[in-house]
Amino acid sequence: MAERKAVPIREAKGKLGVLIPGMGAVTTTLLAGIEGIRRNLYPPFGSVTQMGHIRLGRRDEGRQPLVKQVIPLADLNDVVVGGWDIFPDDCLTAARKAGVCTNEQLDQVKDYLGSIKPMSAVFDRRFVKKLDGPNVKQAKTLWDKHLMLEEDIHRFKSENGCDRLVMIWIGSTEVYIQPSEVHFTVESFEAGLKNNDPGISSSMIYAYTALKNGIPYINGAPHLTNDCPALTKLAQEKKVAHCGKDFKTGQTLMKTIIAPGFKARLLGVDGWFSTNILGNRDGEVLDDPDSFKSKEVSKLSVLDTILQPDIYPELYGDLFHKVRINYYPPRGDNKESWDNIDIFGWMGRKMQIKINFLCRDSILAAPVALDLILFTDLAQRAGMSGIQEWLSFYFKAPLHAPSVYPEHDLFIQLWKMKNTLRYLIGEELITHLGIEYYNYFE
Ligand SMILES: NC(=O)c1ccc[n+]([C@@H]2O[C@H](COP(=O)([O-])OP(=O)(O)OC[C@H]3O[C@@H](n4cnc5c(N)ncnc54)[C@H](O)[C@@H]3O)[C@@H](O)[C@H]2O)c1
Repeated sequence: MAERKAVPIREAKGKLGVLIPGMGAVTTTLLAGIEGIRRNLYPPFGSVTQMGHIRLGRRDEGRQPLVKQVIPLADLNDVVVGGWDIFPDDCLTAARKAGVCTNEQLDQVKDYLGSIKPMSAVFDRRFVKKLDGPNVKQAKTLWDKHLMLEEDIHRFKSENGCDRLVMIWIGSTEVYIQPSEVHFTVESFEAGLKNNDPGISSSMIYAYTALKNGIPYINGAPHLTNDCPALTKLAQEKKVAHCGKDFKTGQTLMKTIIAPGFKARLLGVDGWFSTNILGNRDGEVLDDPDSFKSKEVSKLSVLDTILQPDIYPELYGDLFHKVRINYYPPRGDNKESWDNIDIFGWMGRKMQIKINFLCRDSILAAPVALDLILFTDLAQRAGMSGIQEWLSFYFKAPLHAPSVYPEHDLFIQLWKMKNTLRYLIGEELITHLGIEYYNYFE
């Protein structure tokens, strides 16, 4: 078989600066965990880049190295973090308020967390109605605010001696908006920044500033941001990698694990009722119907593309899918979700499945954010600009080319991601065909 060539990838040398709008529960859990891993306090549970192995070659070759041994990822010791928040709390104070990690865990890394203080944010309450805070930039136009962000970024980069940067939105979920004229072209978007167009949300200003400066952008929330033609085009023009939307963590992760199994065995689904109770600040923000709408659209999208009711109308044509999130303060970050799934099988006989997931939202999200940061930086160094569909594995509503439907099946997503990694390092792609094992006769 012809040898495949590896893709030339710029070396991951020097510091990788990670810029984070939103330094709440997920961000502080991410930072506490990264520092804990750097200090060898615990293994990097949940992270493919740190703990995952990848099979290379045929099964009988026995090559199963760690992903990070064969893929040129940035080293965790080279990661430096900065960010913005509307609250001025340093990350230790914010982490204690979020209540995700134990006080003992936070004490072990308190010097590090205490040293990270958010820069003042670009924020407009119209897009996050339940929040207000004092650490906010004031300027006449959105364009001026963009310039202020640019200044923050340049300062951060030079103060920390960064070789390159990645930006990841881990801020609150903004209200649902449909793309309108201002979001259609780079020119209309820039004009909108200059004349304070009401259709431009705060997250879009961060994303625009990142992409314009050649910084890869990741959207961890479900709102529009980089999922609009203007910013997609800007990313193409500037040859920057970007991806989103909405980290796939608790209930939706379960859905994209289980639903492919139903389809594989041709089990029908009549209804899927999903409800949650959540008491952290994210839950409070999602208590606003307009922010919830962004989340609802993202959470509802997964079943249709996995089950393909257009191809299997008898099995999934009448599926009733409902998702609720209820703000319930006593639970804090410990989200509890319930799923009732009404299924049917042979001779149309009906069955039920109940799932009760008692999860910790930010504990599930932190390794996802870490992997996205390191893989998006890898993509940029490998010259893979534009939408990073191979990272769909991590998202509830993966960005994709307009000509194709998004892939939601977790196992296809994982296969695609690992094959992309094999492709980058010039290894054979794995099809699982194994046809050579049947050729015993001749
Ligand atoms: N935890 C999960 O499992 C999960 C899964 C998918 C998506 N998400 C998304 O990740 C995001 C963060 O979740 P969280 O639990 O950390 O929420 P959080 O409320 O604890 O933190 C969000 C932070 O963003 C800040 N913020 C809001 N607008 C900002 C702006 N314009 N600029 C800078 N900072 C801003 C808030 O002040 C807050 O501190 C949310 O959008 C959430 O929906 C979380």
